Amino acid sequence: MDRTLLIVKPDGVQRNLVGEILSRWEKRGFKLVALKLVVPSKELAEQHYGEHKGKPFYDKLVSFITSGPAVFIVFEGKGVVETSRKMIGATNPLNSEPGTVRGDLAVDMGRNVIHGSDSKDSAAREIKLWFGDNEVFSWTSHS
Ligand code: CMP
Repeated sequence: MDRTLLIVKPDGVQRNLVGEILSRWEKRGFKLVALKLVVPSKELAEQHYGEHKGKPFYDKLVSFITSGPAVFIVFEGKGVVETSRKMIGATNPLNSEPGTVRGDLAVDMGRNVIHGSDSKDSAAREIKLWFGDNEVFSWTSHS
């Protein structure tokens, strides 16, 4: 089954948006399989955002994501990577459609509340980077 990594960035935690974000994905029908609150290390943040190394916003990006607690979440479900990108909205919140997380809750490109993996390959790499195998659960509903 497909999995994706979401990060509620430090701005989202500080603005008390964690519940709102979890709720959107849970209500949509995706399955929560991993969750933790972490102050990201510089080393892992640099690996996570490796593809942006050398870009003008890279240093700011790494220093912002490591500036305080962030919530790391893995959701599972059919098409979860693509659907999550739609639910998140465009990178620049000013271009994000209403109804998306960024379109409803953000205005600033740097402080855009949430990260979501951009492909299945990125999701696999990012989940492995932030979670140990024993921190991601496979479970079934018995109700
Ligand atoms: P995210 O989805 O976490 O992936 C890369 C992040 O870089 C992006 O969200 C933005 O928060 C941040 N960023 C800052 N400036 C830019 C920019 N000019 N272009 C793309 N991403 C940017």
